[in-house]
Amino acid sequence: MSRLIIISNRLPITIDKKDGELFYHPSAGGLATGLNSLKDDIDKIWVGWIGKHISEEWEKPSIIKSLEQQKMVPVFLSKEEEELYYEGFSNKAIWPHFHYFTQFTTYKDKYWESYKSVNNKFAEIILNLFQEGDKIWIHDYQLLLLPQMIREYFPDISIGFFLHIPFPSYEVFRMLPWREEMLKGILGADLIGFHTFGYMRHFLSAAYRILGYEHNFGKITINNRVSNVDVFPMGIDYDKYAYPEKHLLKGETINPKKFRKDKSHLILSIDRLDYTKGIPERIKAYAKFLEVHPEYIGKVTMVMIVVPSRSNVDQYQELKNEIDTLVGRLVGYYSSFEWKPIQYFYRSFSFSDLNSLYRAADIALVMPLRDGMNLVAKEFIAAKEKSKKGVLILSEMAGASDELSDAIIVNPHDANDIVSALAKALEMNKKEQSRRLGNMQSKMKVNTVNYWANTFINELMEMEEQKKQFAKNLLIGSDERKKLLEAYHKAENRLIILDYDGTLMDFNVDPLSVIPDEELLTLLNGIKLKNKLVVISGRDKKTLNEWLSPLEIDMAAEHGVWIRKNEKWRVSRNLSKSWKNKVLPVLMNLVDRTPGSFIEEKDYSLAWHYRKIDKDLSEKRIREYRDVLQYLTANLDLQVLEGNKVVEIKNAGVNKGKATRSWLRNQEWDFILAIGDDQTDEDIFKVLPESAFTIKVGIQQTIARYNLMSVSDVRTLLEELV
Ligand code: UDP
Ligand code: G6P
Repeated sequence: MSRLIIISNRLPITIDKKDGELFYHPSAGGLATGLNSLKDDIDKIWVGWIGKHISEEWEKPSIIKSLEQQKMVPVFLSKEEEELYYEGFSNKAIWPHFHYFTQFTTYKDKYWESYKSVNNKFAEIILNLFQEGDKIWIHDYQLLLLPQMIREYFPDISIGFFLHIPFPSYEVFRMLPWREEMLKGILGADLIGFHTFGYMRHFLSAAYRILGYEHNFGKITINNRVSNVDVFPMGIDYDKYAYPEKHLLKGETINPKKFRKDKSHLILSIDRLDYTKGIPERIKAYAKFLEVHPEYIGKVTMVMIVVPSRSNVDQYQELKNEIDTLVGRLVGYYSSFEWKPIQYFYRSFSFSDLNSLYRAADIALVMPLRDGMNLVAKEFIAAKEKSKKGVLILSEMAGASDELSDAIIVNPHDANDIVSALAKALEMNKKEQSRRLGNMQSKMKVNTVNYWANTFINELMEMEEQKKQFAKNLLIGSDERKKLLEAYHKAENRLIILDYDGTLMDFNVDPLSVIPDEELLTLLNGIKLKNKLVVISGRDKKTLNEWLSPLEIDMAAEHGVWIRKNEKWRVSRNLSKSWKNKVLPVLMNLVDRTPGSFIEEKDYSLAWHYRKIDKDLSEKRIREYRDVLQYLTANLDLQVLEGNKVVEIKNAGVNKGKATRSWLRNQEWDFILAIGDDQTDEDIFKVLPESAFTIKVGIQQTIARYNLMSVSDVRTLLEELV
């Protein structure tokens, strides 16, 4: 049976100590429920901190044993680690920063050092626990470095990572001194999941701008691996909130009346005590509402539940004081002997009470300033399954607002917006309430936590399959590589066709200065001495000539406009260049509007290079200019070709395939090898006989037989041919 190792900072369990004895209570949080509902043919093991400091060494073995029965492996943290890794780096650096509370971000090296060492502690536990075939799923911001740490121990295994909090925009993320290590840590995973497309976009943008990693529909290639970044909005156990009866403990009931003592409208607010939840802002907005709408005084009550959390962190203590003061002020100002504007609870509630409250409430006011997802909003909607009465007012800063568009969506920083939303909710007729709830419920019935977990794991497994498939085509250390080398050594007449940029040289730099290094020249010379070597490039003749003619090899420049054989260049027939005057002004305008891009003028073609341009901007420009260029070139027998970071306008009949043919004519080859990375190199692969060894550098769609991942892989292979 295949196993899934789930790793999170906290285990889904709480431990209590009474009279020296330890008691374990499973906590049925959303994540635990979702993961338990994964297919039965997956055996689940959960690794995490037990959330409590165990000072007595002798107690640990019995804890390990008790948890083993529940398929859990505890991680023990020292007092110092709790302070530096958990309260420190996790909750005083990452948590505030990723939620845009940069004023609270605490930059301390000792926090970071502890964060690294605790992540490493988790990795070592996995090192001992791992068995062949296991899959790994790591959760949340406390373990950002863990995917890569595990990857280093086990390069080929399947690792998933899910971030439950927002991923901030690049401009905010870049402030962190540890940004590179954090990104590299996450990118150790094969599958990286976020709640919303916005977080995914921010992550991809940071990976590009900070590490230079480009993505292709969310896929990033790192050495010989692919990391896939995708969106998986987490849902809830819908039925549990819609039909809670089955989940009640002995003696518990669902009783909304318990919380509805009078006829006033009940506004519900439930959060962990956290500055990201916007609790003070909510109290202030509610006070403003009573001021603007005095007709509701005595007719509405807010039930505010604040669940204690992270109480050792300063900001949380200060927040508690602030909330106490604001509530006190509100109560003091508005209360009468018959009515209080707010009922405030600083504690957690049981599931049955929570569910009763959800049912009793007329309005849920979910107003975080930032929130990765927010499950309270979803639970409230599910609890209204039967009654279809109630209104959700939801902050647009909560990840959940992407899905719950039938809520009244507000900006939590805009008190006036909240005041209007409250008035609108209180006045909303039953039909409209039912319509909105129905829409949201039907979405959430499908996108449950069960669905979420299964979708993630299925995608992880699919990636594993693709990885296996890809490994078969990958010419590294495989039998296929042996076959290629055997065929090479057996043959006598060998043709080797190589593209230049992206195949022999990396092109993450200025395309006009990718001068071949000494090592490459020696390598090509070695190949040439034993084979017919041809370099086929889109580059202009002058440059290729300057760089490579001392090698005395054959070449094709400008995708085959120029062919060099026996040290002589000849040009293809029937080519025109008069059109350039027409197209050049358009490209110049394009450069003016896209600083950092430039035009390369070749004998018979023009190329617009945009290698240094932000992906979003270059895509926008290409979309804008595509039509103009097509229109201009329509009657001129020209072709507009979109290559790798370049748009090229050239004579229609010219391509690398046609150029390749000139080495196939009148000559029999008993071994052909062609390597290229770009779309234009596909034309080479197309015209070669089936027996040829064709290799694509990269992971994009190709008709080549094999893949290599990088220029350095290409060079290593070529070295074996010398
Ligand atoms: N919750 C709870 N006891 C309470 C109040 C809330 O268990 O007294 C649960 C609530 O049902 C929800 C979770 O705590 O599932 C809060 O999740 P959310 O995503 O809203 O916020 P987070 O605390 O993860 O930031
Ligand atoms: C958020 C985080 C979780 C965390 C939870 C409770 O939901 O995304 O990773 O476990 O808050 O916080 P705590 O610090 O008590 O574990």
